[in-house]
Amino acid sequence: MSASSSAVKRSLNVGDQRLISNMIKRVGVLTGGGDAPGLNPAIKGLVYRGSELDVEVVGLFDGWRSLLNPLPEVLPLDRNTVRTWDRDGGTNLGSSRTNPFRQVNKQGETEDRSAEVIENIRQLSLDAIVVCGGEDTLGVAAKLAPRGVRVVGVPKTIDKDLPGTDYTLGFDTALRNITEVIERSRTPAGSHGWVQIIEVMGRHAGHLALWSGVAGQAHIILIPEVPFRYEHVFQLLTSRLGQPTLNRAHSQRPRYAVIVIAEGARAEDGEMITIDDRHDSFGHIRLGGVGDVLARKISAETPYEARAVMLGHPQRGGTPSPIDRIMGMMFGARAAEAVAAEHFGKMVSARGIAPVCEFPLVDIATVSGKIATVNVERDYDVERYHLKHLGM
Ligand code: F6P
Repeated sequence: MSASSSAVKRSLNVGDQRLISNMIKRVGVLTGGGDAPGLNPAIKGLVYRGSELDVEVVGLFDGWRSLLNPLPEVLPLDRNTVRTWDRDGGTNLGSSRTNPFRQVNKQGETEDRSAEVIENIRQLSLDAIVVCGGEDTLGVAAKLAPRGVRVVGVPKTIDKDLPGTDYTLGFDTALRNITEVIERSRTPAGSHGWVQIIEVMGRHAGHLALWSGVAGQAHIILIPEVPFRYEHVFQLLTSRLGQPTLNRAHSQRPRYAVIVIAEGARAEDGEMITIDDRHDSFGHIRLGGVGDVLARKISAETPYEARAVMLGHPQRGGTPSPIDRIMGMMFGARAAEAVAAEHFGKMVSARGIAPVCEFPLVDIATVSGKIATVNVERDYDVERYHLKHLGM
């Protein structure tokens, strides 16, 4: 270990110092699942802090898919390569939704190819893998860990639905993107007197819908955790808009309303709406279209005209927000420390968000097969379809 890295080692806590060996560790980093702003900052943090702790980093392309190739290509990552990555959205390593435990072969049969992943890790002489992902990608890591693969997880998903952490990379940037659209939707909705429905991602969790709805001051927010009643939505609209009147000059009422609806929301007597019936290798179906269903229903059964917009993938797009840059770099740096201290089978997590937060390591099994949804009792008012305790 060099003189400067000895000093860095002393900056770790005593338990971690004891565990650090003087050997250089070679780790592969991969990003899997839906891309998210904050992944590139995380890789930068990993490489920068790793360079102080004798952790050498190589990039693996396109998530777990890279480790199913017969000869996986790797990208050596040094400080110079990743110097400007903190400003980049998406993932410069590419991503895929690959489940090595469920691969469909040429005969159309499903097979477990996880042994190839393990063999490739050995062939590449990787001491450990840093896995940046959500429930699926980290779920694979959690299943490989008991088989001797040394993994450290970094939580990423705009859905913010991972247990064991208060923050997941991409959430804040997605909130920023959605809030901007809510703002911009107000002028057409106001001019034309529409009910504007904005459908946002989040799969089976309502965090994105709830918090973007609050940030953008939507009037009604519909989340998957609480199936809604159409009649109740109509009543809430009537109490805001009243009956449409031609006597505009003297009307004190607003002429428009904004509804934010999560893609996984459904009516009490309805099904979740999906884009098609295909499932990915993790068993997920693509959600989408519930906003349009709601708009048709409002237009058909109330005096109000409604329009829906499904925001789709641009919610995850663009440069990372300041929070995603900071949290990404901090998560990455913490992952390098975990590797150096040989804390494997763990996921870096956050208690709180930047700038006031802590970064404990939790068992990677925490995320396997579970999601963290909105705490309805604490945060959601089921009468007003909105955040509790805001006096709105
Ligand atoms: O998990 C992130 C997410 O953006 C979800 O909010 C959304 O349901 C899903 O990914 C979309 O999947 P895909 O990117 O494969 O279309």
